[in-house]
Amino acid sequence: MNAIAKSNAETEFESTVYHVTPSPDGPVIEIDDFNLWYGAAQALFNVVMNIEKGLVTALIGPSGCGKSTLLRSLNRMNDLIENLTIGGGMKLEGLPIYGPKVDVIGLRKRMGMVFQKPNPFPKSIFENVIYPLRVDGVRDGTVLAEACERALKGSALWDEVKDRLDDNALGLSGGQQQRLCIARAIASDPEVLLMDEPCSALDPIATSKIEELIDELKGHYTIVIVTHNMQQAARVSQNTAFMYLGRLIEYGDTEEIFTSPKLSRTQDYVTGRFG
Ligand SMILES: Nc1ncnc2c1ncn2[C@@H]1O[C@H](COP(=O)(O)OP(=O)(O)OP(=O)(O)O)[C@@H](O)[C@H]1O
Ligand SMILES: [Mg+2]
Repeated sequence: MNAIAKSNAETEFESTVYHVTPSPDGPVIEIDDFNLWYGAAQALFNVVMNIEKGLVTALIGPSGCGKSTLLRSLNRMNDLIENLTIGGGMKLEGLPIYGPKVDVIGLRKRMGMVFQKPNPFPKSIFENVIYPLRVDGVRDGTVLAEACERALKGSALWDEVKDRLDDNALGLSGGQQQRLCIARAIASDPEVLLMDEPCSALDPIATSKIEELIDELKGHYTIVIVTHNMQQAARVSQNTAFMYLGRLIEYGDTEEIFTSPKLSRTQDYVTGRFG
């Protein structure tokens, strides 16, 4: 790309427009000019974004715009990918996420993750939930039982499974499996829950249960959710980030993003004109 074409390309994307609802507790994550390349292909460009503590933040945008990449960058799940380069930084409660001395396992415990397809282990319901404690070497049966109950209550699954904790988790319905995965994610008592299209494999009833759950969990946890479902973003989140071609275009109060976005590009996306 020559210099003139490059500068035109740059001016096509002006800097992000922000009108975020702040949390009384301030931001929990601060993303500062973050860039990411898969090999030679740049997937994220100059992302500057604060994730507000105790609120739900939705990431929206067309397929391939970098939502999952940004989400996986937060807890360094991208570390597993070869030929990855990053620039800029991110902080979790002031801790540089890409700092040289960061304990990545510890970091991932502070930021639990739930994926698109429920991924329980082929083990009992109990073992699935307390897996993070097992990894930590916890052996005390009472501690494990209490943690299991607390996490399953937290994920609104306890009443449905309390009499069958020894059954194989793969025998649960898809929606129950996803709530089990949320229980497993919260069993290690994270600060942040990262959810990448957690309802896309679920039916409408299971989806509304997860949405209710998200509503109950916010406050105690900060939640970042990627979704293709505009109604879902509008229902569950307080702030919404609209991404396009690896850039954060507009990031603001959810109601404003959906009713009076500042940019026509955002308007076109949320009204279904493209994407
Ligand atoms: N492991 C990878 N190696 C190389 N390129 C990748 C990898 N993962 C993602 N990409 C590329 O990075 C860009 C952003 O992908 P990403 O998965 O973050 O998009 P997305 O917004 O989550 O899309 P979708 O809505 O389809 O899930 C895309 O161009 C994609 O092809
Ligand atoms: Mg994705």
